[in-house]
Amino acid sequence: MLKNKKILLGITASIAAYKAAFLVRLLVKQGAEVKVILTDAAKEFITPLTLSTLSKNKVYTEFSDKTTGEWNNHVELGLWADLMLIAPASANTISKMANGICDNLLLATYLSARCPVMFAPAMDLDMYVHPSTVHNIHKLQSFGNLIIDAEEGELASGLSGKGRMAEPENILTFIEDFFSKKDRLSGKKILITAGPTYENIDPVRFIGNYSTGKMGFAIAETCAHAGAEVILVSGPSQLKTIHPGIQRINVRSAEQMYEACKMHFENCNAAIMSAAVADYTPITIADQKIKKSNEDMQIILKKTSDILKHLGQTKSSKQVLIGFALETNDGELYAKGKLESKNADMIVLNSLQDEGSGFGTDTNQVSFFVANEGKTDFPLLSKQQVAHNIVNKMLDLLNKKAQ
Ligand code: CTP
Repeated sequence: MLKNKKILLGITASIAAYKAAFLVRLLVKQGAEVKVILTDAAKEFITPLTLSTLSKNKVYTEFSDKTTGEWNNHVELGLWADLMLIAPASANTISKMANGICDNLLLATYLSARCPVMFAPAMDLDMYVHPSTVHNIHKLQSFGNLIIDAEEGELASGLSGKGRMAEPENILTFIEDFFSKKDRLSGKKILITAGPTYENIDPVRFIGNYSTGKMGFAIAETCAHAGAEVILVSGPSQLKTIHPGIQRINVRSAEQMYEACKMHFENCNAAIMSAAVADYTPITIADQKIKKSNEDMQIILKKTSDILKHLGQTKSSKQVLIGFALETNDGELYAKGKLESKNADMIVLNSLQDEGSGFGTDTNQVSFFVANEGKTDFPLLSKQQVAHNIVNKMLDLLNKKAQ
């Protein structure tokens, strides 16, 4: 199941570190290639010799090898891995990961890794529910890192509760599940729009909105991680695309976004329209900067092309089309209306009334409205998790249409 998968296992100082030996054995047995990074303090709990014997690979602890003077290249280690797993992840390391602290090889590798990251916390029950730990874990999740939740049971302190590192067998199941879903979009081409549009008024002014592109970029990364070829048509955004499977097309105005989508949609299996597209644009763009006068001024606007609606009119019976609705009131009513009027397969509703939802936040609370299926509500989640849920549903819809 894990044949030839390259797994970088980071082990931190926790009594659960002894279980990492079983974990390495299980991973190797499943065909994975395992390299281990130990923090200095973790060596108190498990020896490098045990881990190098089980992994059949050198174990890394320091930035440079004291005997050979050789540099342990954290960037190379990060690029080598298909998955970085930190198990056990102590409260201390979780906190450092959440805050970009980089004072050992494991943390430097974490910061350089481009692959998916999982972490399996291990700590005492009160530490696990402390607001700072909860906050740090949420932060890691908002970066897209996946938590393998701690389990309940007897703890090293003698107390009993939640905080034990997940059993190695359960960690293995989690990883296998992840990889089995990883390639589920291979061979699929997905069109995604993200960010705001800017409608020029004159050479120095425009009409825009507060969209940052976070939701659309998270969807693009999720699709690319699942093996899809992604075309991301983005309005002006500071965000970077990381995955090489994403072809990014930068646009500025609604019209440019419309042209790019029209060009690519036909060859795509699905489209997810998360951009906050201007509904109106100035009827003319002044060539020169408009000078103020003593009078009030008016800018006449004309309607932009509705990209989602256009794609809804042209989509084939096999293509899946997903749109967004951002509403301040009567969300359900408007979302259902958009599902029909745009001929979409699903509308993702986020309401600006929900705290933590909307422009610029790392979290989102959404409901899905699916044609002929009805409504599903979700709790407040990181935008990465929302992206996962959207992509899961899109795949489900694609599979149904393929039948
Ligand atoms: N959309 C689009 N092209 C536009 C406007 C919006 O593709 N010109 C897409 C958005 O990306 C989003 C959905 O349509 O997926 C939003 O629907 P829309 O009815 O346009 O919402 P609003 O722009 O908020 O407009 P309304 O005033 O109707 O709520």
